[in-house]
Amino acid sequence: MKKLYIETYGCQMNVADSEVVASILADEYQISKDINEADLILINTCSVRDHAEQRIRKRLAELGIMKKKKPFLQIGLLGCMAERVKEKLLNEENALDLIAGPDAYRSLPALIQEAAIGKKTFNVMLSLEETYDDIDPIRYDTNGISAFISIMRGCNNFCTYCVVPYTRGRERSRSSQTIIREAQQLINQGYKEITLLGQNVNSYRSEENGEVVNFARLLEKVALLSPHVRVRFATSHPKDISDELIATIAKYDNCCKYIHLPVQAGSNVMLQRMNRVYTREYYLERIATIKRMIPDCAIATDIIAGFCGETEEDHQQTLSLMREVGYSAAYMFKYSERECAMAAKRFKDDIPDEVKGRRLEEIIALQQELSLESNKNDIGKTFEVLVEGASKRSENDYFGRNSQNKVLVFPKEDCHFGDYVKVKVESCSTATLKGVIVK
Ligand code: 5AD
Ligand code: SF4
Repeated sequence: MKKLYIETYGCQMNVADSEVVASILADEYQISKDINEADLILINTCSVRDHAEQRIRKRLAELGIMKKKKPFLQIGLLGCMAERVKEKLLNEENALDLIAGPDAYRSLPALIQEAAIGKKTFNVMLSLEETYDDIDPIRYDTNGISAFISIMRGCNNFCTYCVVPYTRGRERSRSSQTIIREAQQLINQGYKEITLLGQNVNSYRSEENGEVVNFARLLEKVALLSPHVRVRFATSHPKDISDELIATIAKYDNCCKYIHLPVQAGSNVMLQRMNRVYTREYYLERIATIKRMIPDCAIATDIIAGFCGETEEDHQQTLSLMREVGYSAAYMFKYSERECAMAAKRFKDDIPDEVKGRRLEEIIALQQELSLESNKNDIGKTFEVLVEGASKRSENDYFGRNSQNKVLVFPKEDCHFGDYVKVKVESCSTATLKGVIVK
């Protein structure tokens, strides 16, 4: 059988998509972990920031050299960058044989055949329906403990800085029945943690046999499959994180007490310019409700520094909001103008790079303080931890995460990967909690 090597960049949605691609090609290709034995290399790309695209361009140049030594090697580009730059890339990048956008993976076998007879090909059609619902993803790069299930595709929010609505198309949900079936299969295979994935999972909605299933209901259905399997989800848009969803997370022990709720900016002027459709006050009210209904919930976020027209005062408001929420973790970025997104057409990217950089550094420094504070608060507490692997730093330690998504490191005792153990926290750094197993 021919060998397929997939390299995945960007978000977890791409990881889930690569698993779908592996399944679509499974009749002809076996996944390989060694790029040198590959007959076909697929690069699943991300376009969210310019930096990501630059990295992929560099990678394509390296693969071009590889291909010169191995003329029968085929190279294909998948994902958001395929959609954004389209066939232009086929001309610009000699290494490439084929391009498939995020909704075109079913056409990969045909594209590969055409490429084999020397015709460079592409399919970047977006779809209003494609959810790859009937495809059983092949989880080829797995620890056997945690798995992702993609529950919806696309995004309708059109935040002005973002390419996703253009590269991944309109929002559409999978049927709840196939999601539940997939979750049950994972549980039967021994997985202990399932993450439900979508750009905006809170607007999940399916209707089957007269039953309307919203995200809160779907989460409940998955949580009820087994009390011993944790359920996580990503990502939520603050505009529709409902009381019903918060109550569902509170109700089930195996619904992880961790909510990733990207705020992006702390000032109302910036939020409006980003088309986030909520205010600072609304966001803080949602946070207060989460804290009231789930007192032990960790909250993480995404923040963009230096969006168009951001004043020093706007930036200070981002810092003050971060302090007010007390995030346990954050993903922080400099604004990167994207040609096809709305902001590039409407506003000037007018914050100098060194100002963006300085603001980002201040945001990162503050988050380190907040993460440390949040971790220090956990010293003395005991958490249930899912053992995920051996610590990279010390061969005498294992690591795992608690419900709040924090990493705990602890000395090995008689436990195995995939077990739940109780760990009492004794010390911490900004990134990890250290503790010992208690009975
Ligand atoms: N520039 C910088 N960060 C961006 N993100 C999305 N688009 C951009 C952009 N153009 C960030 C947002 C989003 C995360 C996935 O990436 O914070 O939540
Ligand atoms: Fe992009 Fe906004 Fe959609 Fe997230 S919600 S994918 S930031 S448009």
